[in-house]
Amino acid sequence: MAVAYDPRLPEEIADPFPSFARLRAEDPVHWSEILGGWVLTRYRDVRAALADRRLSADRITPFRDHLDLRQRAEVADLLATLGMWAVFNDPPDHTRRRALLNKAFTPRVASLRPTVAAIVERLIDGVAGRAEFDLIADFAYPLPATVIAGMIGVPAADLDRFKRWSDDIAVFVGSALATPDKRGRAERGVHEMREYFRVMLAEHRARPRDDILSALIAPEEQGKGLSEDEIVASSILLLFAGHETTTNLIGNGVLALLRHPEELAALRVAPQRMADAVEEMLRYDGPTQAMTRIALEDVEFEDASGAPRRVRRGDRLFLLLNAANRDPEIFAEPERFRLARRDNRHLSFGYGPHFCLGAPLARLEAEIGIGALLRRLPRLALAEEPPAWSDSFVLRGVKALRVSAARSADRRRG
Ligand code: HEM
Repeated sequence: MAVAYDPRLPEEIADPFPSFARLRAEDPVHWSEILGGWVLTRYRDVRAALADRRLSADRITPFRDHLDLRQRAEVADLLATLGMWAVFNDPPDHTRRRALLNKAFTPRVASLRPTVAAIVERLIDGVAGRAEFDLIADFAYPLPATVIAGMIGVPAADLDRFKRWSDDIAVFVGSALATPDKRGRAERGVHEMREYFRVMLAEHRARPRDDILSALIAPEEQGKGLSEDEIVASSILLLFAGHETTTNLIGNGVLALLRHPEELAALRVAPQRMADAVEEMLRYDGPTQAMTRIALEDVEFEDASGAPRRVRRGDRLFLLLNAANRDPEIFAEPERFRLARRDNRHLSFGYGPHFCLGAPLARLEAEIGIGALLRRLPRLALAEEPPAWSDSFVLRGVKALRVSAARSADRRRG
């Protein structure tokens, strides 16, 4: 049975979960004329699709194929850069680029705890005396952006420019539903970012340091690493993937906490449960709502009655992680926000070969960041309900989250 579903409606953007439940139960392999693709909402389908080699992560080639030569020239930097992002690549490019990026990125995460804690304390110092502040602009954005800039090896002083560029790219990559001139904005953002990183790369080549850019350059020079264009593209990917999503984890997570006072109170008295709490925040209202795939051949899924539905070669699929994360087949009381939930196998970081490279970093930042907010701001409360949600189908988060803090606690306590 077909279900009416229009993800562009403001009420769907604010609260998509009732529609997700209807789709999962009645039309789990839903054809959306509006999105121009299949919408999958059941946990088992979404997870299987994420690991299915017949479904390609490369949505840049089909996008380019739709454009004429003049249009391609207008978005040349965008196509070249996104085409080198591991997240949009299939094997063998994906395997090689991910492995090299992983080698430069992952070993740095373990030692970051004191750096993250220091940034968190400084950001809270900045808001603690204020009656009200915007949790996104004053905390959830600058925390991951500062951390990833430091890891890559770009000056924190340039963060404002990164924010502008990343916002421009996000309207394109995040499938903004109602923003005009998406391509033009994204092309400008990518173009300026490429110019910026080329200069940075030259500086790092001349004077290597202990950061990701230097680590990516070293094997390049022995002919075994990423090319210069790939290093630039991968740095932009890390910078982009490394903050928008984590900002939204902190934003959506704190919003859920403040809307569930009993859960919040329980966490305040048992802060050692923060790791489990972050997993539930990821499941309950994850920052990455939908992943896109393109079918390389015909693939069948079952509809609600068990009858086969055929996805044709070339069709686009939207895998709704946030719908899968509330599938009653997998999660008890899935619509409830329960911080003590066990065996929380949510799909918010994806699954299979593209599983999020930054998951350990995102978890670390959220645990330390939200933990410190609760410890230092004992009266944290929502100052505005409901908040305004961003116009995006892929990235789910609020534009701003006004909170009141009333009075700050002494930072030495706890
Ligand atoms: C809460 C925060 C985050 C969420 C929810 C998230 C989510 C995801 C998801 C769902 C994917 C899979 C994409 C796909 O299957 O098409 C992914 C991939 C990726 N993420 Fe994250 N991410 C987060 C934070 C980060 C951070 C902090 C970084 C790096 C600094 C990062 C870097 C990446 C990279 C490089 C990939 C591509 C991996 C690949 O294609 O092999 N992410 N992320």
